[in-house]
Amino acid sequence: MESKNLFESAFAEWIGVSNAFSFWKGRVALYAILRGLGIGAGDEVILPGYTCVMDVNPIKYVGAAPAYVDIEPMTYNINCDLLEEKITGNTRLIIAQHTYGFPCDMDRILAIASKYNIPVIEDCCLALGSTYKGRLVGTFGKAAYFSFQWNKPFTTGLGGMAITSDSELADNITALCCNELVQPSFKEVMMLWAQLLVYRTLIYPRTTALAQSLFRTLTQKGLVVGSSSTTEYVPKIAPDFFKGMSGIQARSGVRQLKKLAANMEHRRQMAALYDQLLVEAGHRPLVYDRATMDPVLVRYPICVRNKQQALHDAAGAGIELGSWFECPLHPIETPLEAYGYTPGLCPQAEKASQEVVNLPLHPRADEKTVRRTVQFVKKYL
Ligand SMILES: Cc1ncc(COP(=O)(O)O)c(C=O)c1O
Repeated sequence: MESKNLFESAFAEWIGVSNAFSFWKGRVALYAILRGLGIGAGDEVILPGYTCVMDVNPIKYVGAAPAYVDIEPMTYNINCDLLEEKITGNTRLIIAQHTYGFPCDMDRILAIASKYNIPVIEDCCLALGSTYKGRLVGTFGKAAYFSFQWNKPFTTGLGGMAITSDSELADNITALCCNELVQPSFKEVMMLWAQLLVYRTLIYPRTTALAQSLFRTLTQKGLVVGSSSTTEYVPKIAPDFFKGMSGIQARSGVRQLKKLAANMEHRRQMAALYDQLLVEAGHRPLVYDRATMDPVLVRYPICVRNKQQALHDAAGAGIELGSWFECPLHPIETPLEAYGYTPGLCPQAEKASQEVVNLPLHPRADEKTVRRTVQFVKKYL
């Protein structure tokens, strides 16, 4: 079987759905779902105002308009109390984004959506393996999508997956792929392969900050395949946007899937260690409904007093502090007005953007890394 098909069927089986479609990036997977659902001009798509702009682009690409809902401050997920007031006669879709790995309150979202007969899809890019009431996220909505970019629960360099058990939607995505999907160029695949190699051999928590700034410079010069480029901040679809997954990514995905149970267990253990060390240092652990949610966090979010100073000092000290989301539509360079976001629209999201940093939980962040990171971050709490 072709490696792409192998990865898709192994992924679908792992989640427990009927269909999986692999793509070059997570945002391409979202685009495929939107097209498959027939979302288009004049339609509105609801999503949290605390996301990555690359998640908003596909909505613009199909001609629809994003409608942002503010988040609640504990899990950084859509605030269900504010959801209903955003629904209009044009609302065609709700995207439930499981931020940092915390599952959304799916019961409430699905109840509101069904009252208005609006489909829900799940953004699981940060939440592979998290469960809500014992059920894996990605299995609640009509469809879901995942990302395998560098910072995600597991990485194939770049990569994305759309899943669905809805046969009509699956047929539509299959037809779309047959008609419009382009393949990555040889140069792109080779660059990605070299990057994966560098990533696996050289990137560790102490070297991440340095590597990230080098990576940004090389991306701007077009010397590496970056996950995003500044040209994407203008919501206009590139001719080669709708791109499939390469064999190298798919083979890497199959290998990563085999290690997923260990990866998830590691994340749970390190999150518990952060909780414990922060409590010992007089701070609060993560707050969420532990009776209904079992998150597998991609990163451990925490509020700091002076975020910019903390990030600056962390880079100098070889501490891996993450900074998403830097603004309601990450990154900070996003021209918010072009995406229909006016400052003040989502106050909790804006507050979180100014205060939250995130700590590493990936398999290379071991117990020693966690202790060093807490020792460092304590000064900024
Ligand atoms: C919540 C969320 N959804 C979707 C995406 C898009 O994923 P990708 O970079 O694979 O296109 C991102 C990007 O980082 C993200 O943070």
